[in-house]
Amino acid sequence: MIKIKNISRHYQMGPNTVKAIDDLTLNIAEGEFVSIVGPSGSGKSTLMNIIGCLDSPSSGKYTLAGEEVAGLSRNRLAGIRNKYIGFVFQSFNLLGRESAVENVELPLIYAGIPPKERRVRAMEILKRVELDGREFHQPNELSGGQRQRVAIARALAVNPKILLADEPTGALDTKTGAQIMALFRELQSEGVTLIMVTHDPDVASQAKRIVQVRDGKILVDVPVEEWNR
Ligand SMILES: Nc1ncnc2c1ncn2[C@@H]1O[C@H](COP(=O)(O)OP(=O)(O)O)[C@@H](O)[C@H]1O
Ligand SMILES: [Mg+2]
Repeated sequence: MIKIKNISRHYQMGPNTVKAIDDLTLNIAEGEFVSIVGPSGSGKSTLMNIIGCLDSPSSGKYTLAGEEVAGLSRNRLAGIRNKYIGFVFQSFNLLGRESAVENVELPLIYAGIPPKERRVRAMEILKRVELDGREFHQPNELSGGQRQRVAIARALAVNPKILLADEPTGALDTKTGAQIMALFRELQSEGVTLIMVTHDPDVASQAKRIVQVRDGKILVDVPVEEWNR
């Protein structure tokens, strides 16, 4: 699904070059659940942005679902992103004045789905994340875990093959975070490819594979059983 070969992402800061990603190679198959861990500044978010087609590498090859994406224009990248990828963030990023169902409908509006069909689809997905009965609540009328589930429902609205989550439990308590991880494991069993950045070792080990990044390179890439040993 994801084939990254020898990619680098350099930032020119005056006379200095910051190598946020440095000659990194990573393959992720369809249906995997991968945690990306590593210290602050190690390049995790930069890597997620490249995987998610929000950013392009300075050099190297990136093939996503068979399409070469490394050299594409912003417009073409946006097209690929909409086709394959859903995003979940630590801070939920919901529209505060819109109801849960309206938030979930947003990507369906961009996808050109007619209003009635959108509503049906959004209601279904909210049920899928166990938010039936909360469809017409605004974010400030929901708990943190419920807000994150609205955000996950929004990400799932367009049936993405890949769900990217940058610290999805960072703003949640342990129990609520565990509920989100249970949902992620269910999504994996339904065939979604999940890639998650986290600082929390317990959350990281909910995935099947751990990729540890440092200084823009992969330090460790192991099955979770080996990581926990
Ligand atoms: N837009 C940017 N301009 C300059 N340097 C950046 C930019 N984004 C990230 N960096 C640098 O790249 C490195 C990796 O950053 P990042 O991917 O955000 O790390 P992490 O998510 O692991 O904390 C850091 O040294 C950071 O300062
Ligand atoms: Mg980061």
